[in-house]
Amino acid sequence: MEVQRVLHMNKGEGEASYASNSSLQRAVLTKVKPILEETILDLVGDEAYSETEVLCIVDLGCSSSPNSLSVISHIVDTVTAACQRWHRQLPEFQVVLNDLPGNDFNTIFKSLPSFYDKLKRVNINHGPCFVAGVPGSFHGRLFPRKSMHFIHSSYSLHYLSQIPKGLVSEEGTPLNKGNTYIASRTPPAVSRAYYEQFKQDFYSFLSSCSAEVIARGRAVLTFMGRRTDDPSRDENCVTWKIMSLALNDIAREGLIEEAQIDSFNFPYYAPSAAEVRHIILQEGSFSLTRLEGFEIGWEPNAASDTNRTSSDNLKRATYVSKSVRAVAEPMLSSHFGGSQIMDALFQKYTERIAELYSKEVEPKYYPLVITLIKK
Ligand SMILES: C[S@@+](CC[C@H](N)C(=O)[O-])C[C@H]1O[C@@H](n2cnc3c(N)ncnc32)[C@H](O)[C@@H]1O
Repeated sequence: MEVQRVLHMNKGEGEASYASNSSLQRAVLTKVKPILEETILDLVGDEAYSETEVLCIVDLGCSSSPNSLSVISHIVDTVTAACQRWHRQLPEFQVVLNDLPGNDFNTIFKSLPSFYDKLKRVNINHGPCFVAGVPGSFHGRLFPRKSMHFIHSSYSLHYLSQIPKGLVSEEGTPLNKGNTYIASRTPPAVSRAYYEQFKQDFYSFLSSCSAEVIARGRAVLTFMGRRTDDPSRDENCVTWKIMSLALNDIAREGLIEEAQIDSFNFPYYAPSAAEVRHIILQEGSFSLTRLEGFEIGWEPNAASDTNRTSSDNLKRATYVSKSVRAVAEPMLSSHFGGSQIMDALFQKYTERIAELYSKEVEPKYYPLVITLIKK
């Protein structure tokens, strides 16, 4: 699979789009808001920035939902309010939205007029804000040297630049048969290959950012993580384990071949906090000022209710299935086939999740959030 070509979220604003199915990612942003505010205030209060006339901000992996611009408007409001409080000159804002070239930038650009209107409604005095899009991979250089003050990224850095090497034996046999990601029966060599790829990607990401960020620039990065040392034991694998079960279901119905499942692997890795710390220290350009994880349910906005009926479980499962489909469909359909196969797959996926809920299993994601200062 050529990751850069097939990795994008479902486009547009329709029922299956990422724009309509990204409330989980929105809930993650809400959780991280206090950390974002603290980091922005720290940046604006830093002596090194007291004379800054143009504050340059980037959101890496912005995708096509309203989430990205809502983070940007929060950053602009926070900076403006702080400068007013501290009687400082209000900066102008250069905002860059980045994603891979296959991203649906148009959907996000179409919402720019209402974004600018909202900024004015919240604080008429904020400095001019100029938004631009930069397509390209954050695993390499995107911006001129020392041009960025603040880097933000949410729910994007767990994507790998390529499928790890070493997932097939020397004879060409798939080593992770029947699975689409690390699972309980995954051989350690496969887990190691995934980690090696993440290490290489995260290292390249840090080195590129380090060239682009001004000294004492800040970053707030949130991405999928895990609690356990052994990746095959972690709850974050459940999403893809259920995907493997659903794929095997439709293979039994003759819709796809088993061999297709054996040769498919998600370009995704959920690192542990220790792995992330190790790579940041090894790369060495940034001081790690915060590294923590938090739990978030698969349906963060659902009320906790212990007496759920099977119809409630199906409703909840449908929500989860739609949010996974918005993210994973382009990758899956490029390998397994078009909309009919995807409809059958996500029907099974929904049923499998409803089954899990009926057993009162409530899996949680475990995002990690880190803050960095450029040395
Ligand atoms: C789940 S979306 C998150 C979008 C948004 N940040 C949010 O919180 O809703 C992940 C995004 O990361 C992008 N992405 C993945 N790898 C990337 C890379 N190497 N460079 C730039 N963007 C990437 C994907 O294309 C996708 O749009």
